[in-house]
Amino acid sequence: MEKVIINDQIVNRIDAKVDMNDRGYHFGDGIYEVIRVFNGVLFAAEEHLERLFKSAKKVNIDIPYSKDKIINLVNTLVELNDVETGIVYFQITRGSAIRTHEFPTSKTEPVFTAFTANVEVPEKELEKGVEVITTEDVRWLRCEIKSLNLLPNVLAKQEAAEKNCYEAIFHRDEIVTEASSSNVFIVKNGVVITHPVTSQILNGITRQVVLNLCEENSIRFTKKKYSVLDLMTADEVFITSTTADVMPVIKIDNTVIGTGAPGSVTRNLQSLFREKANKDTKLVV
Ligand SMILES: Cc1ncc(COP(=O)(O)O)c(C=O)c1O
Repeated sequence: MEKVIINDQIVNRIDAKVDMNDRGYHFGDGIYEVIRVFNGVLFAAEEHLERLFKSAKKVNIDIPYSKDKIINLVNTLVELNDVETGIVYFQITRGSAIRTHEFPTSKTEPVFTAFTANVEVPEKELEKGVEVITTEDVRWLRCEIKSLNLLPNVLAKQEAAEKNCYEAIFHRDEIVTEASSSNVFIVKNGVVITHPVTSQILNGITRQVVLNLCEENSIRFTKKKYSVLDLMTADEVFITSTTADVMPVIKIDNTVIGTGAPGSVTRNLQSLFREKANKDTKLVV
């Protein structure tokens, strides 16, 4: 029987109930995280928890549990559900109250929920590369918060799906920010370039891992703004996320990128990423 977490309890999914007045349901008034599970072990859990607490602070939600308690709960869930390769999703909403836009006058108890899913590494796409589209970034200007409000991201991803594309890359005017659920990198003359950390992007955990790998392996990189033209004329393009790893992009809006096949810098980062993910998640017995 599949288990889920509700507050600090692990229960059967069928028994988990959320109040209809939950502010997450009414307003998307909450925050979330997705952590990768490789080899049955959480990858980069500390970093995800740190981002969760930062997001919570920015929207004035008091997480009622410590980082350690959440990691312990989530680890138990992964074990009980026997997840080998997958994800754990968890969210915290402001809690349940009669619907008013402003915070409820009497203090609400934040509601923590989590579930796991088996999600394979997208080997075929990682090998071949994917096609994506570009679309205007119409989101709010607090994208550094991993908030439940994802309607613009949902609409952008749907636009991509309708064109049989894997992802939608956002640009604000002519500047590329990120994608609907991933960060975007270009490679030009051997230099890896990605948007700097501002409130216009989510600072992806995979993004941070990749930049650290660049640093440790003397791969030249810079965090700076770049244009749609830079994107379209890059030697290589790739996107990163918890579920997509380091995903080569070979076509954008039907225009071939570089040689039309994953480039050497992307390939190098893919194998460095895989090495690190395996090293960090292999249980030593
Ligand atoms: C808007 C956005 N940007 C970037 C990312 C990638 O972040 P991470 O590498 O932490 O999964 C995500 C992940 O869901 C996202 O939703």
